[in-house]
Order: sequence, then C-alpha cells, then structure tokens
Amino acid sequence: MPAWTWTYEGYDPAEETLRESICTLGNGVFATRGAASETPAGEVHYPGTYAAGVYNRLTSRVGQGPGAREVENEDMVNLPDWLPLRYRMRPAGAPPGDWLTPDGPELRGHRQTLDMRHGTLTRETVYEDGAGRRLTVRHLRFVHMGDPHLALQRTEFTPEGWSGTLEVRSGIDGDVRNAGVPRYRDLAGHHLRDWRTGTAAEDTVTLTCRTNASGIHLALAARTRAGTHVPGTPVEGNGGSNGGGRNGNRRTRAVASPVPAEAVRTVTGERQVFQELSLPVRAGVTVFVDKTVALSTAREQAAEQDREVAQLAAEAADFGVLLAAHRRAWEGLWQRTPLEVRGRAGRILRLHRFHLLGTLSPHTAALDAGVPARGLHGEAYRGHVFWDELFVLPYLNLHFPEVSKALLGYRYRRLPAACRAAREKGLDGAMFPWQSGSEGREETQEMHLNPRSGRWLPDHSRLQHHVGSAVAYNIWRYWQSTGDRDFLVTQGAEMLWGIARFWSSLARFDPGLGRYRIRGVVGPDEYHDGYPDAPLPGLDDNAYTNATAAWVLARARETYALLPARERQLLCERLDLTEAERARWEEVSRLLHLPHHEGVISQFSGYERLAPLDWEGLRARYGDIRRLDRILEAEGDSPNRYQASKQADVLMLGYLFPPTELAALFTQLGYELDEARWHRTVDYYLARTSHGSTLSAVVHAWILARARRAEAWRYCEEALAGDVADLQGGTTGEGIHLGAMGGTLDLVQRGLPGLEVRDGALWLAPAPLPQLSKFAIGFRLAEYGEVKLRLRRNRVQVALSAASPRPLRVRVGRREMLVEPGTAPWVEVNGR
Ligand code: BGC
Repeated sequence: MPAWTWTYEGYDPAEETLRESICTLGNGVFATRGAASETPAGEVHYPGTYAAGVYNRLTSRVGQGPGAREVENEDMVNLPDWLPLRYRMRPAGAPPGDWLTPDGPELRGHRQTLDMRHGTLTRETVYEDGAGRRLTVRHLRFVHMGDPHLALQRTEFTPEGWSGTLEVRSGIDGDVRNAGVPRYRDLAGHHLRDWRTGTAAEDTVTLTCRTNASGIHLALAARTRAGTHVPGTPVEGNGGSNGGGRNGNRRTRAVASPVPAEAVRTVTGERQVFQELSLPVRAGVTVFVDKTVALSTAREQAAEQDREVAQLAAEAADFGVLLAAHRRAWEGLWQRTPLEVRGRAGRILRLHRFHLLGTLSPHTAALDAGVPARGLHGEAYRGHVFWDELFVLPYLNLHFPEVSKALLGYRYRRLPAACRAAREKGLDGAMFPWQSGSEGREETQEMHLNPRSGRWLPDHSRLQHHVGSAVAYNIWRYWQSTGDRDFLVTQGAEMLWGIARFWSSLARFDPGLGRYRIRGVVGPDEYHDGYPDAPLPGLDDNAYTNATAAWVLARARETYALLPARERQLLCERLDLTEAERARWEEVSRLLHLPHHEGVISQFSGYERLAPLDWEGLRARYGDIRRLDRILEAEGDSPNRYQASKQADVLMLGYLFPPTELAALFTQLGYELDEARWHRTVDYYLARTSHGSTLSAVVHAWILARARRAEAWRYCEEALAGDVADLQGGTTGEGIHLGAMGGTLDLVQRGLPGLEVRDGALWLAPAPLPQLSKFAIGFRLAEYGEVKLRLRRNRVQVALSAASPRPLRVRVGRREMLVEPGTAPWVEVNGR
C-alpha cells in the first residue's frame, strides 16, 4: 500500500465497524465515523458523529430483581446523522430497483481508501442488477480541516448498460441514539429532543434539536446539488489529485448546480429531512451529487446559530474549492508534525497522527474539551476523559503547545469540581475524577457489565486517584517544553498546589513504619481493586501512586520558589497556603512509603502474598487472555487473588521519568534504585502482566528499549498494531485508542531519542531499536523554532532552523555542544 493511504479491498460486514473507526474523519471539533452513506445504523453499520465536549446525562435501570438499581451515565452524544445518501436505478420504461447498499445482492465490487495526506475517504462500489445493468459509484468524503463546521461528500455515478433515471435521497437523520457499544445497549441511549426540520433554500434542508438533559442546541443544514461531467475527469473536481485544479475547463465541468425544482421533492419528517432527486442518466455518462453539510453546537443563541448554519451550507463554495482548502489545511498540519519512519511502522504512525489530529487539532484550542480516551471515533467509555492525556500531551507540546494549553485549561476550569470532590471525602485540595466529562465531576460508572458472564459488577476504578498526578505531570512537562511561565505561575501553580494538597491530606503517618502511607486506592493496573476477600475496595501503598505523589509535592514546592514574590503572596493568600503546610509537603514528599519485596519494587503492599497465576493453563484454555478480569470473573474467580496485572503499573515510573530523574526521585524518598533493581523489577512484572490495555504495550516498548532488551520491538509492534489489527478483540470498532496512538508517536519522538527539554537545553540519550534505528523527527521549541533530529544507529544529527534567533544547547549523553542556527551537526552516541 502507498505510504499515505490506508485501503480495504472488498466488503466484509464482519469488519465494518472496525473499518468505520479507522476511517473516521475529524477536524478536532467534530468527527464522523467512516460508515457507508447508504444504510442507517444497524448490526453491521454504525454511522456516528460526535462533537468535542458535547455530552448528555441519562438515568438507566440495571440489573434485575432486588439487586436492580438506577445508574446515571454521561455520554458523548451521537449527533444527527448527516451522511445519508441513498440511491436506486430506474431504467427507462422499468420500475425502480431496490435502494442499493453494500449489503444487497447487487454488490459486485467494493474498495475503500483513507487518504491520510489529504484527509479524505473514498469508497468505490460497483452494483449490477439481475438484468446486467451496472452502476459504478465513487464516493468521496471529508470533514473540513480548515472550516471546522463543514463536511462534504461528492458521490459520482456512472451507469453502464442502461439509461433512465437515478433516484437519490439525501438528507439529515435526527432519529438517532447512542447504540454503538453492545455492552451499553440496555442502558438509556436517547439523548435528543425538540427536533425541527425545514428548508433554508431550494437545495438546502435543515434540522435542529437539543440534547435532552444538557440542553445543547444542535443545528445542521445540508445542501444537495448535482452535476454531470465527462468520464476521466477527477471525481474531486478542481483541486483533484491528478491536476484538475489547474484546469479551468474541468473546474466548470465539475461544479454542481441546483437540481431543477421539478426534479426535487423535499420530505420533512418529525426527526428527519430528505430531498429526493430524480436525475436523468445516460449509459457511460457520469453524474455526481454534492452534499455540503454545516454543523454547529451551542449552549446559547440558538436562533442565531440556526441562521448561520443554514447560511453556511446554502452559500458554501463549490466542492472543489472547499476540498482544495481542506487539503491545504491538512498539509499545514503535516508540516507541523514531521516524522520520517520507513515501512509499515511509518504508515501506522501516520495513521496515528491522522487520528490524533482529527481528535485534537488547532481548532480544539478554542474549545472547552479534554482528551477523550477513544477519540471522537466511537462510544466506548462514553467519550470520557481519563488519565490518557498523559500519553498525548507530551507529544502535542512540541507541535501544538496552544492545544496542550487548552487541554490543561479543560482541567483548570474543572478545578473547583475537583476541590469539591475532595471536600466531600473529607480531604483537602483537588481530587480530579478518574473519568471526567462535561462538568468535571466523577463520571466513572458504578457498575459495569462483564459481557462474558452477563453479570453487572461494582466498578471501583474511580479509586485511581493517580489521575491527579497525570494532570500535574502534564502541567510540568508543558512548562518545561514551552517555557510558558505565565501559565505555570497562574493556572499551573493553582492546579499543582491543589493536587499536592490532596496527596498531602490523603497521606497518613504510620509511626510503626516511620513513613507516610496512602491507603485504599487503585493503581493503573485495574485488575487489582482490592485485597482478596477484604470488605472494602482499594489497596495500600501503590508504588506508582506514592512515587508520583512525592514527585508532585516536590514540583509544587519548586513552583512556589519560581513564582514572582507578588503573585506568590496573592496566591498563598487566596489558597490559604501556609508555611506549615509547605513544610508538610516537604516531609510527605520525602517519606511516602514505597514497598519492596524480593529485591523488587512492590506494586502495592502485599502483592507478594497473592497467588501465582497459571498463565499457561489459562492460555491453553482461552487463547487470548488479555482480558483476564472477565475470564476469571466468569469462572467465579477474581484477578485480585493473583499476581497478574492488566497493564504497566510500577513500570509506568520508567515511562514517565528518564532513568536519572527516577533514581533522584527514589533518593528523595530515601530509597535506592540502581539499574540492577530496576531491571529485576522490569523482569518481575513483565512475567506477570496480561496487557489488557493498549497502553501497556506502549509503556513496555518504551521501557524495554531503554533497558536495551530484545523484546522491545515485540511490544512496539503490538502497540502499533493495537487498533489497525484490533488486538483487544473487537474494541477498536467502538472507538480508537487515542492514548496508545499518542503514546506510539511519543515513543518515536521522545522515547527512542531519549529526548528531554529542560534547563534551557535539549537532552538526548538515544536508545534506538535495531528494527527502528533510522528515522527523523521534527518539532518546534519555543524561543528556538524548528529543530530536526535524524537518528542512525550510532549517531544523531541535530538541525536547527536558520531562522532561529539563537544557538541551541544540546547534550547527547555526556557531550554538550551549541548548535548554531542553520547548521546540522552529527554527534556520535556514546558507547554505541
Ligand atoms: C485502561 C486505563 C485507561 C482506560 C481508557 C482502560 O482499559 O486500563 O488505563 O485509562 O482504558 O483508555
């Protein structure tokens, strides 16, 4: 396959939801799954459109009998479907055939291609009826990256062996619900109300409605026009890949016009609005239908918004003009994220970049939205925001710092909710929710369904308070990468102090141990949410939680020192931060307990007492045992009883902190972490992890690369294949895994080059994998501009843009040098 395209040959209903996720098109404001336009949602197809930050809350009843209870869930709302475009052949003198879909008996050929460079999705389908009459359909779709309220599709029809009429239905379907995740289907899923349908112009229909609890107003308008053009000219119209854009004649031919009024019938239903067009067609002559859609969401100003959206669609420029602008916008994004990796890995990384930017683009900077764990690509995890931003923001910091800042702003605006949550638990500071949605309150479900056993089970994952450390970590890395002091000393400091305060209030001194302990929490490994047979959930002394808490407390103190005197005083007064409290931060940051056993860091106190798991036996019985939790629960057992982790937990520390920083953190806590202990710890947990989260492979690839281990590439491959091969078994169809996508990009950007930006210098400690030792990345450093790194097995080249105002200090291993603007020196990597 060419480097910039992703193609699926043939039609496979069983794969359709996966392909829809992989072929989702987005612009950071909204995204639409790559579903066929010919069919509504059903068992095979799921046309979903989601807008960043648009949530709605519903109550459902779960369970049966006396155990039944009401649960509330906030979901990212599936918006009215703008895709519908149905068609059928009516040969002269014959009755109309069936509406054609890829699921019908007329299908003869199907191919779909995601063009990542240009942000378009093409479907080519060939149909043939019982009498040998053929119709070739070529469909091109894009969600405009330049104008974040527009989406378009051009559908080109070429009849063969018949002439007559092509009947087309194009419109907007507001009769949709959230039903994209089979596990949630018994829960309430109808989020819309107050539909209004109408027309804004002869060729433009409108649909407005609102979400039934959050009251968000949704407005859509769709203009449908048609045209004829000569076979051989590009379907894209002007601006097409084969040069149509420079050809004035082609431009004229590819421009759609309103269909004459007598050939259009507008059908306005209560929740749907369609236009039915009758287009005369001749064998061998191609006609096309352009659908231009405008979409907007708003909390207020509904009437004005409706007018604007209708106008946007009705008066939009022609398809070709908009496509050319869209392509330019994507081109600009690719230029800001240079990455040269060869082969299959390079193609997948391109796909990951494509989906990251479709979810979080520069347009996102203007929104109040977080990092949805499954992108804007599906309904798994209800569009919620977890700690996954930890895997995404460090990548964005070096390309789109304004987007990182906005995503941190999403957290900042929810700081009061986090403080409220802490207060309600009798704690101080800010307790960020494990799953966050519109308001910043805890959105984690209280019960979850094990589809294997059919049982609803209590969900304790909300005890993952380590999410607060992830927020703090991102604040700090953002500040290091960008030098945005204004942010650090205002919103950054307030959040860091809130999180530090929370950790300090949760930690309790244990005189017996002579250390502080944090008890009753859950670490990143969700398979352990309590001790076997314990009456209450939660674990004690989770090493990841404690080490990151200690790190946050130290950064909070460091921030205090960085604040200008006046700001410091004002903030201390406002937050009532006393010297005594800062002294406690210091003490806790040095004395948090990190349990150890058998010469390794313990995931939590008592991990060593858990039973060993029969990995081989389970593998022999079940094959894929990534979702060990579901398997064991269905057997009436629990992962809490075993030394078996879902994903990296202790080892996450090696992902977050470069070796020297991690060793210093242990020293701060009064422990020693030498290379031997770390390697033993890596081995220990590697043998006890099932990788039931896509994040696990990313973290293991990262740390094993640094531990110079042969297995690193295996995890790297697994991390890359996570979504394209749907390794977690059916989950990608419910949305891509954005954390893992961001994490693989960051693995190449920071992980393998060992890249850090700190103390006014660029630090490099390359750990190339034999299979991935030759690649290049580019990024922007505040105050220096463009930097490009080229890695080879034993060397690294650092190129600084000629436009840079000053030389860049670079440290590679123990060597330090100044790279002058416009130069690109190579440096040997020590010892390799
Ligand atoms: C992982 C979490 C992650 C969540 C959302 C879960 O399966 O265990 O670490 O935050 O998915 O991606």
